[in-house]
Amino acid sequence: MLSYKRDHYCGLLNESMAGQTVHLSGWVQRTRDLGGLVFVWLRDREGLVQLVFDSAVCAPETFELGRSLRAEYVVTVVGEVRLRDASAVNRDLATGAIEVFVQQAELLNKSETPPIYIDDKADESELVRLKYRYLDLRRPSMQQKLRLRAKLVTCIRTELEAEGFTEVETPILSKSTPEGARDFLVPSRLHPGAFYALPQSPQIYKQLLMLAGFDRYYQIARCFRDEDNRADRQPEFTQCDIEMSFIDEEDVYAVVERVFARIFREVKGVELALPLPRMTWIDAMENYGSDKPDTRFGMKLVNLTERLGKTGFPVFDSAVEAGGRVEAINAKGLASMTRKEIDSLGEFVKTYRAKGLPYMTFTADGGVKSSFNKFLTPELIETVRAAMAAEPGDIVFFAADRRSVAWQALGALRCEIARRKGLIDHSLYNLFWVTEFPLFEYSEEEGRYVAAHHPFTNWYAEDNCYLDTDKEKVRSRAYDLVMNGIELASGSIRIHRADMQAQMFEMIGLDPEEAQHRFGFLLDAFRFGAPPHGGLAFGIDRLAMLLTDSDSLRDVIAFPKATSANCLMMETPADVRPDQLETLKIRVELPQEN
Ligand code: AMO
Ligand code: AMP
Repeated sequence: MLSYKRDHYCGLLNESMAGQTVHLSGWVQRTRDLGGLVFVWLRDREGLVQLVFDSAVCAPETFELGRSLRAEYVVTVVGEVRLRDASAVNRDLATGAIEVFVQQAELLNKSETPPIYIDDKADESELVRLKYRYLDLRRPSMQQKLRLRAKLVTCIRTELEAEGFTEVETPILSKSTPEGARDFLVPSRLHPGAFYALPQSPQIYKQLLMLAGFDRYYQIARCFRDEDNRADRQPEFTQCDIEMSFIDEEDVYAVVERVFARIFREVKGVELALPLPRMTWIDAMENYGSDKPDTRFGMKLVNLTERLGKTGFPVFDSAVEAGGRVEAINAKGLASMTRKEIDSLGEFVKTYRAKGLPYMTFTADGGVKSSFNKFLTPELIETVRAAMAAEPGDIVFFAADRRSVAWQALGALRCEIARRKGLIDHSLYNLFWVTEFPLFEYSEEEGRYVAAHHPFTNWYAEDNCYLDTDKEKVRSRAYDLVMNGIELASGSIRIHRADMQAQMFEMIGLDPEEAQHRFGFLLDAFRFGAPPHGGLAFGIDRLAMLLTDSDSLRDVIAFPKATSANCLMMETPADVRPDQLETLKIRVELPQEN
């Protein structure tokens, strides 16, 4: 019996090893039987190498074994590394200049025909990939992505440890922390009728650790949020969570920038220019219509409200009369867009609550066409031409609506046009801070102001004058780190005084009794000498997704959830035995299906 303990990885063999005897173990990628010769590609985590079963070299039973191999069989072999003839070199394979002539072989396990090809070139349906995730993970790209992710986490730990941070683990069985999503609840057996909540983040614990004097904390923390799954959201995900005492924004920026610089250097070989640029929230919204702007391309928003307020075009006039805005973007050189393309963009902005998508085309011959031709006047055309720097060949899109809708619709539209028209330079990593977020946000749903970040966020003292009169003007000391249109990190300088915290709860309409019930422990804790503190958390899944050029978080999570928060492989969530429910004193009543 041949041992299965190898001495080399397939993918790491090279020409310098010619003549050596090596012992390899792995999976069969594919086989080619040429009669007296059988070629087998063997795969392990490092890559592929070609094995040769030559009836003139190996014993008859070994040769027969070679012929019997099928995809995904597990084998171990001993053989000699030989250089290939120049004509037989395979440039598609990293080990394509060599092959291994098998002397001994042992079949360790067979495999049924796999339901997916273990090959990055194969375009498999994601549903099947997720159902057979363990096979999908054998694909080289998935191996590389998860290894890059591990390296990323190592970089974070190395840098933060060097900077004097202490990793502390905080509970998973916890109490609701307000991060704006629904909680996942866990029923308690020992306290029937009571529930733990899985943490949406370690926010409150890390603040308590500052009270406890840890000074610099971090954690690679699993967070749970019961919200609708999207390409950049998972119901469970991992944050690098950071908190520091006796600091201000500058200290947080500096530490996080050094962590990111290390990650980019060691994982991507890219030198980030520090300090990272900053943009205020209001500038981000005015220019890009988004608090996480993608700055890899132009098409900035221009506010035309003053200039187009009274043009006689009812759509513009009525929006402005109602206190809204007229905003526009210039899609440079895209005047040749077809009617169908424009209509589909019109449908696209409707999902952002825009009622329509008026446009004006500056044709190559110097003319102008528009979706509202009958309202065009020479003044209106001239105003738009000048304000948008429009040239022949450009098309200008308008939004006339409430400020928030105009921003959102055109902010999303510029990204959609850039994506569809290939205007994005994928070699860029545009990483920068967005600062001075509003403290409050009006929730139409709840009919009250809510904390825009979370209710532990401090605000600029100079905005105190707006607290009662003009809440939307109060700027919080919150900041985000944004890259290529994705929010990577979020944080703030916190409230650290009990009276301010109570004031905050009151301002977002939490009555004192409710505040005491939900956060009494925090208000109590603040009475025992809380230091000034602040921090942030960044999404490790999102960062790994960007650094591996993946389109979805699912590609950088070993066992992700599918779109309805279910795992297709384990078939979770699943029902439980009646006696388990009985122990928990839980009765399930599903709505009658009719
Ligand atoms: P926030 O809720 O903004 O802040 O989360 C911080 C970062 O976590 C990542 N993230 C997610 N990643 C994947 N799937 C999700 N569903 C998901 N939700 C968030 C994002 C985001 O920027 N306690 C605060 C941080 C603080 O104030 O210190 C917090 O959790 O990258
Ligand atoms: P109409 O006058 O209905 O033909 O509309 C002229 C243009 O204005 C079209 O491009 C519509 O998509 C757009 N439009 C119509 N109503 C609105 C609205 N309420 N808000 C924004 N655009 C609109």
